[in-house]
Amino acid sequence: MKTEILNAQIPAALQRAGELLKAGELVAVPTETVYGLAADASNAEAVVQIFTAKQRPRNHPLITHIGHLEQLERWVKHVPDWVAPLADAFWPGPLTLIFERHPSVSDVITGGLPTIGVRMPNHPVLLSLLQQFDMAVAAPSANPYQKLSPTSAEQVILGLDGKIAAVLDGGNCDIGTESTILRVGEHQAEILRCGPLSAADLQPYLPLPVSVPHSHTESVSGNQKVHYQPNAKVIICPTESLATLLQAAPQTTGILVYSPPLRQLDCPHRIVVAGNHHDYRKALYAALHRLDQTGAEQLLVEAPPRLPEWADIWDRLSRAAG
Ligand code: TXA
Ligand code: MG
Repeated sequence: MKTEILNAQIPAALQRAGELLKAGELVAVPTETVYGLAADASNAEAVVQIFTAKQRPRNHPLITHIGHLEQLERWVKHVPDWVAPLADAFWPGPLTLIFERHPSVSDVITGGLPTIGVRMPNHPVLLSLLQQFDMAVAAPSANPYQKLSPTSAEQVILGLDGKIAAVLDGGNCDIGTESTILRVGEHQAEILRCGPLSAADLQPYLPLPVSVPHSHTESVSGNQKVHYQPNAKVIICPTESLATLLQAAPQTTGILVYSPPLRQLDCPHRIVVAGNHHDYRKALYAALHRLDQTGAEQLLVEAPPRLPEWADIWDRLSRAAG
């Protein structure tokens, strides 16, 4: 299959992406977090192809992306009272909510679970696509299973060229890591996956205390310990010892650093990222992708600050380190 590259700024390209999706094809689409591999969520035969293209196990549930709030009723059994304040505050945005699923929702989307994850993405291209075609799309991150999530159309192509009908190029993703996943139960709310929105961000809009579990449940993809992996072996090093470790390391070692003293280190595979959380997050996956392309076999990553707002970065890096 030849994968079409569609420039999202051209209206005809947006139209083409919508038509392909409506025809049951897979199209990678930009979101504010990472690129998603989309299929029309109401077409189970289309959705099932996502698993083949990604080589993803069939029991790993997908997030359903909606273009406006009224669509929620089509996918969930009932809309609980706690939704309105969260949706008002954070949708469209990087927040996935877990609901009891509507009886008509295919097992293919939920991986057989009685629940469904839904979010309204905050990307003008994807929002207008969903609204224009009055469609919801099931979309995991647009990478082969257990590889890095893509934050640009080029990275999508590197992983999935020839396996999907098209990629809608909407530029680089603004946020750069995957959405926060929140499950609101009877007695507590739980963050299932750390992301751009922290427990402190969410708590004011919730009627129950929100917790961040320390151990991940293995049952859901993305909650497995090993995930988000580049090809190179990733080693997280304290700032103080990185230079010494690099001296003893083989030639094929790359570094990913942000501290001023380490920015000058002599290393052919050196990637310098910003030290502030926002820009670091935006650059992280792209940097790991770039490093993989240099052929570096191992990567010394300068440990990020141990501060609460860096929890999402620690989560992704520890999984990359396996
Ligand atoms: O930012 C994002 O969330 C991106 C963009 C494309 O929206 N999507 C994404 O999808 O990261 P994916 O498939 O790579 O990760 C989806 C996560 C998985 O960890 C999956 O287990 C979890 O969502 N998930 C989906 N439905 C669930 C459910 N019903 N219960 C618990 N977890 C669920
Ligand atoms: Mg993923």
